Amino acid sequence: TKQKLWGGRFTGKTDPLMHAFNQSLKYDQRMHSVDIQGSIAYAKSLGRVGILTDEEVVKMEEGLKAVEQEWANGTFAIQEDDEDIHTANERRLSEIVGSLGGKLHTGRSRNDQVATDMRLWLLEEVKEVEAGLKGLIRVMVERADKEKDVLMPGYTHLQRGQPIRWSHLLLSHAFSFASDLQRLQQLIPRIAVLPLGSGALAGNPFCVDREFLAKELGFHSVAENSLWGVGDRDFIVEFLMWSSLTMTHISRMAEDLIIYSTAEFGFITLSDAYSTGSSMMPQKKNPDSLELLRGKSGRIFGNMAGFVMTLKGLPSTYNKDLQEDKEPLFDSVDNVSASFKIAEGVIATLNVHSEKMYSALTMDVLATDLADYLVRKGVPFRETHHVSGRAVALAESRKCQISELTLEDYQTLHEKFTEDVKDVFDFEASVERRQAIGGPSRKMVDRQIAVLRETLDKQ
Ligand code: ARG
Repeated sequence: TKQKLWGGRFTGKTDPLMHAFNQSLKYDQRMHSVDIQGSIAYAKSLGRVGILTDEEVVKMEEGLKAVEQEWANGTFAIQEDDEDIHTANERRLSEIVGSLGGKLHTGRSRNDQVATDMRLWLLEEVKEVEAGLKGLIRVMVERADKEKDVLMPGYTHLQRGQPIRWSHLLLSHAFSFASDLQRLQQLIPRIAVLPLGSGALAGNPFCVDREFLAKELGFHSVAENSLWGVGDRDFIVEFLMWSSLTMTHISRMAEDLIIYSTAEFGFITLSDAYSTGSSMMPQKKNPDSLELLRGKSGRIFGNMAGFVMTLKGLPSTYNKDLQEDKEPLFDSVDNVSASFKIAEGVIATLNVHSEKMYSALTMDVLATDLADYLVRKGVPFRETHHVSGRAVALAESRKCQISELTLEDYQTLHEKFTEDVKDVFDFEASVERRQAIGGPSRKMVDRQIAVLRETLDKQ
């Protein structure tokens, strides 16, 4: 009868439900390739300390590559007792290379192995995630560059505030993503710390060269403490937190666009490619893509909160609770990547209704500019704010716009008003006055575009 890898000290059989409960292969098999890479490097390190002969190392490497080939071809035959990707690969290796396979795990534990695999796997995925994020930012920047002429109201409290450029709004979201890009890149050195050679917990007794292992596998540094090496999952927590934050940015952008796509706003229309209909109401075109992006952010946050709960209170080093790191991490990687792609598609294809945006610009959004007009004539802002407020109230009582009040009206409000007050009531001029860094003027929008392009080109 077949033996479990760890079966030596056991006489009783595993309960079938427990067997299934314990088994992680159905989800951790996606680490098959990094698991093999780690084993090849480890075999080499065993060769360097004389545990394996040179021929054995070669044979082991060939065997491991053959196992990987089976995964790649989809011919790897999973067996009932394959508990996880590590036991499955080792079992298959031994079938291919015979008893030599039994030497691979010398001084190694699944504890340092799984931690190594997770880090290697995440390092590879981070590159994909980064590419997806860059793709999204790029589309936003290109769109902003093309639509600089489009003016719209900027909102606070979802109430019309001041005129801005549509590009300025788009770029505001792009800057959130640019800081996510920076944060993601900063995670890499903390992911790239090598646990292999930590053993089960107490380090490696065969003095394998861990610096060599790190170099072989592309790690930046070596875990300096073996207990920490097998027990640390902060790199996963950090990625999950990063995912929660970037999804929060996706969600806030989605919310803006959902509101703008309502008939009441009518600022944008999503392309059919990213909308769905109603099974009952024939007229409906719903922004499901954006709603899913907003919805996913909750789930991604949940992955992070759930896993931090798993970690909290764990005793030192490896505990099986840590097997629960995989599904939230895999799920977050998959959904964040998908979200970047969908967001990119939504942004690239949506229709902007510039005339609708323009017509939402009521004259009252220039009330600040009206106050600023008097400031330029030497009146303190606190006073001009009040005067402008009275102009708004007067226009409201007359059911007209502040631009329709007469010069006499204005002069009764303040003696510094002259003929040129009419120049205030120009949205383009208002936006163009904002020439300080960060403003919505054409020049400053161009500057933002240049800054973001530089960020994208950096690496
Ligand atoms: N499948 C396990 C995990 O994902 C591998 C480590 C198992 N180690 C152990 N001592 N049981 O965490």
